[in-house]
Amino acid sequence: MMFERIVILTGAGISAESGVDTFRDRNGLWSKIDYRDVATPEGFAANPVLVHDFYNMRRRRIAELEPNDAHRALARLEREFSGEVLLVTQNIDDLHERAGSTNLIHMHGEHLSALCAACGVRVAWQGDMSVETPCPSCGAVGHMRPDVVWFGEMPYQMERIYTALRAADLFMSIGTSGNVYPAAQFVQEAGRSGAHTIELNLEPSDTFDDFDEAIHGPASRVVPSYVDMLLKG
Ligand code: NAD
Ligand code: APR
Repeated sequence: MMFERIVILTGAGISAESGVDTFRDRNGLWSKIDYRDVATPEGFAANPVLVHDFYNMRRRRIAELEPNDAHRALARLEREFSGEVLLVTQNIDDLHERAGSTNLIHMHGEHLSALCAACGVRVAWQGDMSVETPCPSCGAVGHMRPDVVWFGEMPYQMERIYTALRAADLFMSIGTSGNVYPAAQFVQEAGRSGAHTIELNLEPSDTFDDFDEAIHGPASRVVPSYVDMLLKG
């Protein structure tokens, strides 16, 4: 099969071999901490110090990690593929960028960005954040938050994502459990538009039955070999 327009969705599993915790695996993040405390607007309102500590710790941890062969394979696909490649990630880490991917959407936000809940400005962010951090734009204190899409909030750039899914002829889903919407529905959206859909995951996801094809195994192995096949045409 020759493809021209590829949309790729990645989840926490693509960063697992780089050392980033996944959420719902056996010892995933949500088995250690209640997601309602650190990944909902209500949790932030109730205890902003806990939420800042959680994301400060994740920001520092991710800075010590490196992209793996799966991230690098997707960057190579974008560079060498003759058609279009759009990478949509649910991850807030910057490992795709550091591997060289550029046509990229962080639908759940990113840890190197901050949002002011008072004026709505989004700014690039390094280092820690706290309840004393003033907004660099409006100066308000106590309103800066991680620029991360929490449960109950609208993911970013959905219109652009759905437009790409409707035009895709190949949809690849990598390292996601298919537990969270709207990302979990992307395979159906792409399939309805006639795209070939493939899941590359450690094990069958919750939306496994929606895919035309699946290759199960660690992303750092299965993604480079699938990209090699795509580039050979
Ligand atoms: P959700 O999974 O609860 O649902 C998102 C939307 O899809 C909702 O409108 C919901 O009604 C709909 N939906 C849920 N189950 C569905 C189903 N079985 N079939 C069809 N539609 C269904 O996600 P949420 O609570 O709205 O969270 C919004 C976004 O925030 C999600 O994309 C989530 O991944 C993201 N998020 C990010 C973090 C983070 O730390 N980055 C943490 C939690 C959530
Ligand atoms: N290679 C490939 N897949 C892997 C690997 C690996 N080395 N390790 C784990 N996986 C798979 C797991 O089998 C699982 O299906 O990655 C998936 C990770 O699923 P989750 O932990 O649920 O992460 P994700 O799907 O990204 O969660 C979606 O939920 O909490 C929110 O916003 C958060 O973006 C996150 C969203």
